[in-house]
Amino acid sequence: MISTKEHCCGADMFFDEKKSNKKYRDYLKKGPPRITLEIINQIKSQKIQGKSLLDIGGGIGALQWWFLEMDGARTISIDASSSYLQQSQAHAKENNWDSKTQFIFGDYIEEHKRVNNPDYITLDKVVCCYPDFKEIIKISCTKANSCITLSYPMDDVISKIIFGMAILSTKLKRNLFRPYIHPVRKIRKTFEHCGYERISHKAVFPWHIETYRKIIDKKVYL
Ligand SMILES: C[S@@+](CC[C@H](N)C(=O)[O-])C[C@H]1O[C@@H](n2cnc3c(N)ncnc32)[C@H](O)[C@@H]1O
Repeated sequence: MISTKEHCCGADMFFDEKKSNKKYRDYLKKGPPRITLEIINQIKSQKIQGKSLLDIGGGIGALQWWFLEMDGARTISIDASSSYLQQSQAHAKENNWDSKTQFIFGDYIEEHKRVNNPDYITLDKVVCCYPDFKEIIKISCTKANSCITLSYPMDDVISKIIFGMAILSTKLKRNLFRPYIHPVRKIRKTFEHCGYERISHKAVFPWHIETYRKIIDKKVYL
């Protein structure tokens, strides 16, 4: 397994300025992409007004902009890509959201210590970027006050072939960043062990989109 440091340097190179510009242009033209819209559909059944959102690996920030437009009080983005963060920071400035937004560059596993506990956490196509899925989920379960919504890849043969091609492409580019398919059953078990219950699920090939809610009187195990 590659080290966390290598993974994060790799992510910064992989999610570069070219990708960030393209994602942002697409967002301005068409709005949030399909899987992000599914995440929005699941969160919008929760109260947004006055609440806070920690968007891990938030990319160009589509989820955060929706949250603030819905009267969310505050968003925090922790991302290992400096290009994505710069792009989202520029968008926040253009929309006068400076005082409601916070942008932190680096590895979530370390940088989460710098932020207060948010009401909601989102991980849109991020668990598949991280070698140790248990670590990223356990920290999020301890951190969130209420719900965690995430999208992550299915673990069937076809999805593994699709991801296998993406892995090959990063290897050919000699980038240390790797996408991962983690076992779906173990991801769900981890939430359960951390005292969370699943309240929404949708499958849009090759992704699962799920929301977990903290069961208040159950201990969170780390
Ligand atoms: C596939 S992109 C998804 C971006 C955005 N959520 C979306 O759906 O468009 C994965 C994002 O996770 C970020 N990322 C990967 N590993 C990370 C880590 N350990 N800490 C913080 N961000 C990370 C990457 O920099 C990238 O922005």
